[in-house]
Amino acid sequence: MNETVTQTNSCEIHCKGIRGQLLTFKADPFLCREEKCHDYLSDGLIVIQDGRIIDVGDYGTTIKRHPGLNETDTYSDALILPGFIDCHAHYVQAPVIGSSGNTLLRWLDRYVFPMESRFRDKIFADEVAREFMAEMLTQGTTTANVFSTTFETSVDAIFEESERYNTRMITGKVLQDRNIPDSLKDESAEESILLTEKLLKKWHHRGRQLYAIIPRFAPTSTPRQLELAGELYQRYMDRGVYMHTHLDEVQSEIDWVTQLFPDQPNYTEVYRHFGLVGGRSIMAHCCIVREEEWQTLHENECGVAHCPSSNLFLGDGEFKYWEAKEQSRPVRVGMGTDVGGGTSLSILRQIGEAYKVAMMHGRSLDIMKSLYMATRGGAEALHLEHTIGSIASGYEADLTVLDLKPDRFAAWRLNFAESITEKLFVLSAIAPGFTVKATYVAGRKVYDRERKRPLMYASDPDIS
Ligand code: GUN
Ligand code: ZN
Repeated sequence: MNETVTQTNSCEIHCKGIRGQLLTFKADPFLCREEKCHDYLSDGLIVIQDGRIIDVGDYGTTIKRHPGLNETDTYSDALILPGFIDCHAHYVQAPVIGSSGNTLLRWLDRYVFPMESRFRDKIFADEVAREFMAEMLTQGTTTANVFSTTFETSVDAIFEESERYNTRMITGKVLQDRNIPDSLKDESAEESILLTEKLLKKWHHRGRQLYAIIPRFAPTSTPRQLELAGELYQRYMDRGVYMHTHLDEVQSEIDWVTQLFPDQPNYTEVYRHFGLVGGRSIMAHCCIVREEEWQTLHENECGVAHCPSSNLFLGDGEFKYWEAKEQSRPVRVGMGTDVGGGTSLSILRQIGEAYKVAMMHGRSLDIMKSLYMATRGGAEALHLEHTIGSIASGYEADLTVLDLKPDRFAAWRLNFAESITEKLFVLSAIAPGFTVKATYVAGRKVYDRERKRPLMYASDPDIS
């Protein structure tokens, strides 16, 4: 643990402490020796001031540096982790989560497109944004990179709700001007880009909010829309704007892309051709990827979202971590729920599902590697690894506290597990519904399972 020595008595200016068992990552365990990649403290102390971690370390030594610390939340039978990061979800699909599928394209037609069409209505969008954020925070996720849909209302609703919690969220208007029902279709490529830029200027870096340019996937945009989206991305890339889309999820989708863009050698090249591949390009799924495409994703430092419960639920294909993390050209990978294609907003559940997805190919997936993808790996995929995803001095204080005795049966079962890694694996495999005890966003306890009002906005005067 890198213990930053901070000034004694720095907590005369209001500080908060969080004490308990803690685990955090500092490097990628797919690429270096696992013991070197994480820090585990059996009795740690995190000191927070103005929403940031100012000190962290073993309780006994750290407390001496902060004699003025008089407000500390102490957790026993629990593990403090960086807040989970969901690198790919569709908040607008929360109302159709768990709808029985068939193929991806039929599932979209039958459930997703009719539901997304309802987001013209701001009141409906507000309701869904509220439920989505509430469930996300209940599950310990503090940042999500999400799709809204075509309409301005859908973007405003989720950013407004995120602002109330002060969460670091990434979203944007979805661009889709062909092969989509009229009720969702952009009126023209030009207008869709004007609206995107207007929303980008309104929301990007407003508080903790970040904007993404989002062509749904290559088949639902005309070449003109992709071209304009690429131009916009190139213009705003160095200001931290994202490009978020789907890539190589299922063979039928890849075949469709080949038909629509016959001049491009592969699906990734379609995006690159239009200027949509860069450091903040986040590609969801990447289940069926050619070697040349991995190379491109590596060279451009793109982020990839592994969405295991969606892989299984939609039966699309399986993400292959051993391909993505090939030592000669590793790719940045985070975990995603892909709700509503995924069946839960719990990242802990995604970890359990990621294990099964790998096992389908005879590969095991170590719990420390999947926990890394769920926290620091996600931050790296989003190029936010200096801001969120770790418990270290200078980082934003987004944290989740997992209960190591979440219910009677799990508590009993965990008695038979010895190490913390074994316990975490069991927790991810059985993933009880209310495993998260508390969620902190920029140092505020926005979720507390035991509180009378479990969820509270950051600006609520009664919040701790
Ligand atoms: N590809 C294009 N749109 C979608 C979507 O909404 N969900 C998933 N899983 N894949 C997509
Ligand atoms: Zn998706």
